[in-house]
Amino acid sequence: MQRKKYQVFTPEAVVEKMLDLLGYKGELIINKRIIDISCGDGAFLVSAAERLIAECKNKNLTTKEIMEKCSQNICGIEIETEYYKKCIKRLNEVIKKHFKKLYIKWKNVNNGDGLLHSEDNYDFVVGNPPYISYKDMSSEQKEYLRNNFLSCKQYRFDYSFAFIEKSLNILSDQGKGCIISPINMYRIKSGIGIKELIRPYLDVIVDVTEDNIFPRVLTNPVISVFSKTKKTNEIVLLKRDLAPRKLPRETFENDINLFINVGSRRFGDYFSVHNGVATLYNEAFIVNSDSDLESEVLMNARSPKFSRFNLNKKIIFPYLHSSGTINKIDEKDFFEKYPNCPN
Ligand SMILES: C[S@@+](CC[C@H](N)C(=O)[O-])C[C@H]1O[C@@H](n2cnc3c(N)ncnc32)[C@H](O)[C@@H]1O
Repeated sequence: MQRKKYQVFTPEAVVEKMLDLLGYKGELIINKRIIDISCGDGAFLVSAAERLIAECKNKNLTTKEIMEKCSQNICGIEIETEYYKKCIKRLNEVIKKHFKKLYIKWKNVNNGDGLLHSEDNYDFVVGNPPYISYKDMSSEQKEYLRNNFLSCKQYRFDYSFAFIEKSLNILSDQGKGCIISPINMYRIKSGIGIKELIRPYLDVIVDVTEDNIFPRVLTNPVISVFSKTKKTNEIVLLKRDLAPRKLPRETFENDINLFINVGSRRFGDYFSVHNGVATLYNEAFIVNSDSDLESEVLMNARSPKFSRFNLNKKIIFPYLHSSGTINKIDEKDFFEKYPNCPN
C-alpha cells in the first residue's frame, strides 16, 4: 500500500518514551482506558497492550480477566482500512505471544474517523496526528474543520490541530495526554487557535527537534504533555541532557523560540549544496582548459555563460584539500610550487 505523506509512524523508542511521559505504567493502568484517535498500524496501542498485560500478570489476574482488560481499555481509531487491519493483526500477535492460541475481540479499536468519535472521558490520550497542511486539504475538509473545531476557525490551519483539540476534549478531568507534533503549532500565526486551547492544560514540552525522529520528513517535532488537573503558572521544558527549564505559561511560546534550536537539521542533509564564487576579476582567475598552468591548482569552472557558449574553462583554486577541510596555500609557497601561475 502506498503511504501518504502524513502516514509517518512513530518509532518504538519514541513510543516508549511518550508512554513513560504519560505515566502509562504501574498497576494503576489496569483499570484505565487509553486511546489513540489516529492509531495507524498501532505503534502506541501495541506497546500499551504489552504494558497492560505485564501489569495484569503481576497482579495475578486470570487470563480471562486480562483479555477483558485489553478489550475494554485499549482503544484506537484508524481511517485507512489497511492500517486498521495491520493494527489488529499486531495486537493479536501480542496476545498470541502471551497466551498462545487465544483470540480476543478488540471491541474498542475501530476503522473510522477519529474526529467523529463520540465517546469521551478517557484516562490517557496519546498520538501522532496526521499533519496535512492547509494547501493540501480539500475544500470539504477545510469547511468541515472550520465548522467543527475552534482551532481551525482562522488562518491556514493544519489538519493535526483538529486531532489535538479532539484529544483535549475526550480527556477525563483526571486524565493525561501526550502528543507528538510539529513545533510550528506553537510558533506560527495559524497555530494561535490550538495554542490557546492547549495552553491552560500543558504540563511539559519535550524538545526532540534534534533527535531526527522522522528521518527524511521535514518536521521539527516536539512532545506535548497535558492534563486537566490544577496547574502552576509554569510549563516545564525538557531538552536532552539539559536541566529542566520552567517557562511562564502565558508567554512560553516566546521562550520556545529562543530555547529550541530548530536550525539543527541542515538543508545540506537533504540536498546537495553548491555555492557560486565571485572572482571579481575573471581575467586573473579563469583560464582556458588547455592552459599550461599546473593541473593541481585548477578546477573545472561552470557558469551560465560558459554553458550557453559551450566554453571549457578552468578556475585557479589556490587551496589544499585535506580530510574534509580546505586550507589556503601560502602565497610564497604557491608561486614556488606552481611557477606557471601568473604572479
Ligand atoms: C502520523 S500517522 C501516526 C500513526 C500512529 N499513531 C503512529 O504514531 O504510528 C497518522 C495516522 O492517522 C490516520 N488518519 C488520517 N486521518 C484520520 C482520521 N480522520 N481518523 C483517524 N485516523 C486518521 C492516517 O491514516 C495515519 O495512519
